[in-house]
Amino acid sequence: MSINPTLAEMATYPFVRLEEKRRELTAAGVDVIDFGKGDPNEPTDPMIRQALIDAVPERSPYPLAAGLPVLREAAARWCGTRFGVEVDPDTELVPTYGSKEAIFSLAEVLATSGRVVAYGEPAYPVYERGARFAGARVATVPLLRENGFLPDLDALPDDLALLWVNYPHNPTGAPAPLELYERLTELARERDFWIASDEAYTELWFDEPPVSALQASDRSRVIVFQTLSKRSSMTGYRSGFVAAPAEVIAALKAYRPTVGTAPQEFVQRASVVAWSDERHVEETRARYAAKRDVMIPAIEKLGWEIVASQATMYLWVVGPDPDALLARGIIVSPGEMFGPSGKGYVRFALVPTLDECRRAAEILASL
Ligand SMILES: Cc1ncc(COP(=O)(O)O)c(C=O)c1O
Repeated sequence: MSINPTLAEMATYPFVRLEEKRRELTAAGVDVIDFGKGDPNEPTDPMIRQALIDAVPERSPYPLAAGLPVLREAAARWCGTRFGVEVDPDTELVPTYGSKEAIFSLAEVLATSGRVVAYGEPAYPVYERGARFAGARVATVPLLRENGFLPDLDALPDDLALLWVNYPHNPTGAPAPLELYERLTELARERDFWIASDEAYTELWFDEPPVSALQASDRSRVIVFQTLSKRSSMTGYRSGFVAAPAEVIAALKAYRPTVGTAPQEFVQRASVVAWSDERHVEETRARYAAKRDVMIPAIEKLGWEIVASQATMYLWVVGPDPDALLARGIIVSPGEMFGPSGKGYVRFALVPTLDECRRAAEILASL
């Protein structure tokens, strides 16, 4: 059998390996506390669940790629209230099936074949994978502690077609200042590349609300990916959107019917409720804040250093040995799983319950 060599060359998706470890430990009777994969364990607000139930029809036809107008309007309205920007729901926004599939396929939708797609690393692995399958050349931009985990804009590669940024950043939890987007959009215009901004974590913040690339003065080269997965703890629903210039949205509307990744209409109707409410998001932030209040002192007491980590559900920590933690039933992600610049760090995803976090803090205290 011959399969696509790009697929054959790829290592197992990192989280598949963590999941295997979790299964092995559980089978061996270990009481596992899993800070590995970033899949929220929070309940989806009852109001959103009810909206989904109420929307399941007797017959559910194929959803259209453009999405329901009522969802596009709710998402565009949210961009307005959250970031103070005007997004045209008909021409500048398209709903997506979560954001991962849309992130993966962007390099294929834009003219990137044979050109360079770059991303900061450590990184969420999908930017690279999408670029490779699209036949682009991949370049990484190291995100270093001394630069606040922001890219060095003087070191961007040549022949750049697309640059990925992701703030607040997974895995470091670093936020970006608006100047980053202002400088990037200037460079993008000068050097003719697209900026793709993965904003999955803008709503998980603790001090001040992060900015969006949509707020840059010139949005003509900016493609933003948003999702309800973390904001509304709706990973399993698969619902997000892309906001971008009309030419990109038109391209996505042309491409997406072939792939068949429009969210189910009952999910879209539940998503309208999710984008239209902030109370449940405030409650979600409070739940993560409570877990931070348990885990941060427990980690620091061991002399380990928490770096960046101002937003997102992650703590980026220097010091722990992931295997030693594993032996005590605590799963974390080794930093190099996200790229070579992650070496020496581990990532705690604050997805276990508050009680589990308390239990983990006790285990840490006993180390
Ligand atoms: C940085 C980043 N972007 C995007 C996603 C994709 O999320 P979803 O497809 O659920 O919207 C994730 C998920 O963990 C992520 O960490």
